[in-house]
Amino acid sequence: MDSGSDSEPLDIEALGEDLKLLEGIRTTRAIRRLKPDPVPKELIRKVCEAGTFAPSGGNRQPWKFIAVTDPERRVWVADRYRKVFRSYIAPALEAAKAPDYPARKRRNALAALHLADHLHEAPVHLFVAGWKRRGTEQSQALFPAIQNILLACRAVGLGASLTTLHTSFRDELDPWLGLPPEIPTCALLPIGWPIGRYGTPPRESVDEKLYWDRYEGEDPA
Ligand SMILES: Cc1cc2nc3c(=O)[nH]c(=O)nc-3n(C[C@H](O)[C@H](O)[C@H](O)COP(=O)(O)O)c2cc1C
Repeated sequence: MDSGSDSEPLDIEALGEDLKLLEGIRTTRAIRRLKPDPVPKELIRKVCEAGTFAPSGGNRQPWKFIAVTDPERRVWVADRYRKVFRSYIAPALEAAKAPDYPARKRRNALAALHLADHLHEAPVHLFVAGWKRRGTEQSQALFPAIQNILLACRAVGLGASLTTLHTSFRDELDPWLGLPPEIPTCALLPIGWPIGRYGTPPRESVDEKLYWDRYEGEDPA
C-alpha cells in the first residue's frame, strides 16, 4: 500500500474493503516505524468509524477519539512519551545486551524504542478516551473499539500500534486535550503510512491455549 502522498488520489471509500476479515486479523501487528507523510482526515475518520462498531456494555458507546495532527502538538506529546518510555525500557535494553537474550524480544524492544524516539514524526496521534461509569474508568469498554481501529488501519494500509504509556502523564495530558476528568484517555495509537510491511506476528499456537470443558494446563509457579 502506497502512502497518500502519491499523485493518484486515494479512493478512501473503496480502500480496505476487499481484505478478508480473518486474514486481516492474522496479519495485524504493531507497526512502529512510520513515514512522516500526512494521512487524509477522511481516512482517519474511516478507521475511527470502524471503532464505533465495537460492542460496549449496554451499548453505551463511551468512546471519544481525539486525533492530534498539529506538528507542535505532536512534539508536545512525543517529548513526554519519550521520557517515560526511556525509563520504562531501560531495564529491557540492558538485559537485551546479553548474547542469549531472545532475538524476538530484542527486536520488539528496539521497535518500541524507535517509536518513542520518532513519535513526533508519526502524522497522527490518535487518543482513545471514554466516559467513566459510576466514577470508575471503563477501559474494558474501549479495547474492542481500539482493536477495531487497529484492524481497520491494517485493512486500509496504515501502520498503527497500541500504546498506553501516556497514562503516566495523563494528569497533564487530558486537560491539554480538552478532556474533562469524567472522560480519561485510555490509549494512544500512533498512526501513519508504514515503512515496513504487515505480516503474521509471532504467536504461540492456539493448541497451547485452548482447553475443552476444563483447564488442564500448569498452575503458574
Ligand atoms: C494493553 C497494551 C498496552 C500496550 N502498551 C504499549 C506501549 O505503551 N508502547 C508500545 O510500544 N507498545 C505497547 N503495546 C503493544 C505491544 O507491545 C504489542 O502488542 C506486542 O509487542 C505484540 O506486537 P506484535 O503484534 O507486533 O507481535 C501495548 C499492548 C497492549 C495490549
